[in-house]
Amino acid sequence: MLELNQIYQADCFDFLNQVQDNSIHLAILDPPYNLNKADWDTFDSPDQFFKFTFRWVDTLIPKLKDNGSLYIFNTPHNSAYIMLYLKEKGLNFQNWITWDKRDGLGGAKRRYSNGQETILFFTKNNNHTFNYNAVRLPYESTSRIKHAEIKGILKNGKRWYPNPEGKLCGEVWHITSARHKNKINGKTPKMPHLTPKPLEMIERIILASSNEGDIVLDCFAGSGTTAQAALKLGRKFLCCDSNPKYVELAKQNIKKTLNNYES
Ligand SMILES: C[S@@+](CC[C@H](N)C(=O)[O-])C[C@H]1O[C@@H](n2cnc3c(N)ncnc32)[C@H](O)[C@@H]1O
Repeated sequence: MLELNQIYQADCFDFLNQVQDNSIHLAILDPPYNLNKADWDTFDSPDQFFKFTFRWVDTLIPKLKDNGSLYIFNTPHNSAYIMLYLKEKGLNFQNWITWDKRDGLGGAKRRYSNGQETILFFTKNNNHTFNYNAVRLPYESTSRIKHAEIKGILKNGKRWYPNPEGKLCGEVWHITSARHKNKINGKTPKMPHLTPKPLEMIERIILASSNEGDIVLDCFAGSGTTAQAALKLGRKFLCCDSNPKYVELAKQNIKKTLNNYES
């Protein structure tokens, strides 16, 4: 039986096989993308990559509660295949989220430069948690909104007034990548993890798709971003990563989060 609020050093399959069926409220998966960025991101062929991906998807699905949600990161190209697989498995499609990273992955000269990743949001049934008020964002057209606050705007015969908490969160997320944020004079210094996800992005997912006390699973934990966000927001986490170096890093990051919230 796995203990909650722990990061395990384990292969995702061994770890998932120990998770109780029907116990996870939210799964956030930021797996290998097959971009050859590291050993853990390198596969002999696309076929081998998708075999691995579909195998962990199959192992994960029974672990989710019936009203559970899952978010899967990948490239738009790989996500197209993963999306079809999830639909084939009977999961419910909710959103194809585009993460605009405010950063380029390369200097393409024969096509448009790649600066986005995809986050597939699926649920097991349609009774899932979705706290849309918890993830509102500031309105962008401030002068129009200021006017609307006073007089409202006529929409389909009804007066619409802006929500004081901001607009509903859309499917395109403009969030600066950690790589871009850390740049000094245009160069990214070596980071302790190659591909950490921005904390604010994982917090958004957790706020929208879980409630306090819920269990959030991440079996590709890396630097522990999911665990940190879960702790900060009063959720429980169950995480693993196969790389002992990253597990140590994640544990240190969790300790820092705990110190911040205890002091
Ligand atoms: C894209 S990174 C995750 C980064 C993480 N979201 C963060 O914010 O730091 C993917 C992680 O999956 C881990 N990984 C790769 N293959 C794995 C496997 N079979 N089982 C468990 N972890 C694996 C890698 O060590 C790597 O840290």
